[in-house]
Amino acid sequence: MIVLASDHAGFILKEKVKKYLTKQKIAYVDLGTDSNESVDYPVYAKKMAEYMLENKNSQGILICGTGIGMSIAINRFKHIRGALCHNKQTAKLSREHNNANVLILAGRSKKTLISYKSLVKAFLTTKFLGGRHQKRVDMLSNL
Ligand code: RB5
Repeated sequence: MIVLASDHAGFILKEKVKKYLTKQKIAYVDLGTDSNESVDYPVYAKKMAEYMLENKNSQGILICGTGIGMSIAINRFKHIRGALCHNKQTAKLSREHNNANVLILAGRSKKTLISYKSLVKAFLTTKFLGGRHQKRVDMLSNL
């Protein structure tokens, strides 16, 4: 299952991502926020981390203005490997090398607002390569 969440600064992009997923016939769960009204991004990062703890094979797409606050917040949880990506190449590599389970997007970045579909597609369709990367991902869990 794909799980989405954002703060107010990521709300518009979250709605765009939802439309894109619907068009691709990809099911998702939306944990909010539900408007442009100001909210606190750590609350939504925590909601996502809790959902992903219960739903082991889920993947997240998490959005705030810069993506930075959400990155800091979501990576505090041990079962999360969140990747703030600004282009298709890093979205793909976050899966291949880091086995990232949360794609973090910058909702106030003009570049991201133009290219988000290719980032989401790369993230959702790319597989973890394992091999030498597995050891490094295992090391993350032990930090
Ligand atoms: C909200 O104004 C903004 O600070 C937030 O979306 C995010 O960019 C924080 O890192």
